[in-house]
Amino acid sequence: MTAPWWQSGVIYQIYPRSFQDGNGDGMGDLRGIGQRLDYLAGLGIDAIWISPIYPSPMVDFGYDVADYCDIDPRFGALADFDDLLAQAHARGIKILLDFVPNHTSDRHPWFVESRSSHDNPKRDWYLWRDAAPDGGPPNNWVSDFGGSAWEWDEATGQYYYHAFLKQQPDLNWRSPAVQAAMYDVMRFWFDRGVDGFRIDVLWHLIKAGSFPDNPPNPAYHPALAEMHRVLQLHSTDQAEVHVIAAEMRAIADGYGAAGRGERVLIGEIYLPVDRLMHYYGRERPEMHLPFNFQLIEAVWEARAMAALIATYEAALPPGGWPNWVLGNHDRPRVATRLGQAQARVAAMLLLTLRGAPTLYYGDELGLSDVPIPPEQLHDPRGLREPGLGLGRDPVRTPMPWDGSAHAGFSTAQSWLPLNADWPTRNVARMMPEPASILRLYHQLLALRRDHPALAVGAFALLESDGDVLAYERREGAQRLIIALNLGGQPQRLALPRDTTGCRLLLSTLAAAPLIENDVLLLRPDEGVILAA
Ligand code: GLC
Repeated sequence: MTAPWWQSGVIYQIYPRSFQDGNGDGMGDLRGIGQRLDYLAGLGIDAIWISPIYPSPMVDFGYDVADYCDIDPRFGALADFDDLLAQAHARGIKILLDFVPNHTSDRHPWFVESRSSHDNPKRDWYLWRDAAPDGGPPNNWVSDFGGSAWEWDEATGQYYYHAFLKQQPDLNWRSPAVQAAMYDVMRFWFDRGVDGFRIDVLWHLIKAGSFPDNPPNPAYHPALAEMHRVLQLHSTDQAEVHVIAAEMRAIADGYGAAGRGERVLIGEIYLPVDRLMHYYGRERPEMHLPFNFQLIEAVWEARAMAALIATYEAALPPGGWPNWVLGNHDRPRVATRLGQAQARVAAMLLLTLRGAPTLYYGDELGLSDVPIPPEQLHDPRGLREPGLGLGRDPVRTPMPWDGSAHAGFSTAQSWLPLNADWPTRNVARMMPEPASILRLYHQLLALRRDHPALAVGAFALLESDGDVLAYERREGAQRLIIALNLGGQPQRLALPRDTTGCRLLLSTLAAAPLIENDVLLLRPDEGVILAA
């Protein structure tokens, strides 16, 4: 039996404003993505996940949706989307959309109706509560973007809840009418041929029914975002969310069962591993892949890394397929976190661990966070709590494609500045350079495709000492050894006795590493893949 594509395949996240501009307005769009499909096919990824492209006031850059069943004119029109889907499918590339079920824009017609009066039929589509006896907010919940999570509505004399911006009111997922409307949204896109969804802040959907205060966080200090003042005990991760997640999965599975192609659900969930695992589903299946973000925050040290991998692997429920993420549009880029040399090692780690990897656009070029001048800051998260390094603009800058004006991203000034090193750090320049990180990504992706041991094979840890992390992947007679030097000093790894004569498949550095008497001499910042 061959593994489904979402197990053996690789997902590539596109931040659509910044991938490729097709209409010369300095912002990426769907036509632009279409122009770069050959690049993506050549890179060797299996699916793209596109961050939100729906009509939106763009207060949170598309994560404030004003219409779930259309395309924002900045990105194109429904016909452009259908065209992109057809072109992608013709190249064997799947498309996953970003589904944002927790909240709408405050401009969504549902919210406009809801806030119009107490007795509007959509009043309970959102979370309205009376003021506390002192006139203040109903409880102490803090918005993820700082400040109270409650906004006073003068006209109807109640507060509404928003886990993010006040322009992103939370839907009331306990309402059957909300559930039905949102499940119809999923069907709308599935019927158009979309291969799945990345589901935004899935663990937020249901809040404790009585809205009790959240407990204070004893570890909070003022250098942290204000959201950390309290623990989100009652505002997130409630038992009833699993009923919703299972319903979503049942809808997706219905398409597969009807022979209309398998549809995949990936949940955005930032929770400790034991809680995360529940989102695979216990009584009923839920997410195919609950996103595993641990590599983003991992301590870059072999023993800690080995423990993290082992704990995650051990926690997986029977049949639960692992997945790994190095970066996304909300977190500092890997090249900034670890530096250029270790970004290469991290690429090897991401693409050789057991499980589905998700790449973030530009990481294949070693793109770093781009410092943004104050007058060009866009992200409300950074603007609302300045000075804490929370702004996400630096990780959302345009993809540098070539050495022409505006790096081939656009014919106009781009909405965010390019990386300063774009004249050398761009696709056209790096593609022919044998030692570029882009070529390393190509090689890693090709190896994954050609070696079932990497795509679906078993995982076993071999060594985690000092800066050396080594493991093997096995499938049938195929056995690969991956050895990573997570530091800047040379290291030695005694190879398992039964691997004499093993063959080098790939090093992150130029030239082959030395193997002497069954000891692998790893150079600083080197990762290697050996066939045993
Ligand atoms: C998710 C998105 C993030 C957005 C937030 C609110 O975490 O990844 O970009 O701001 O949800 O929708």
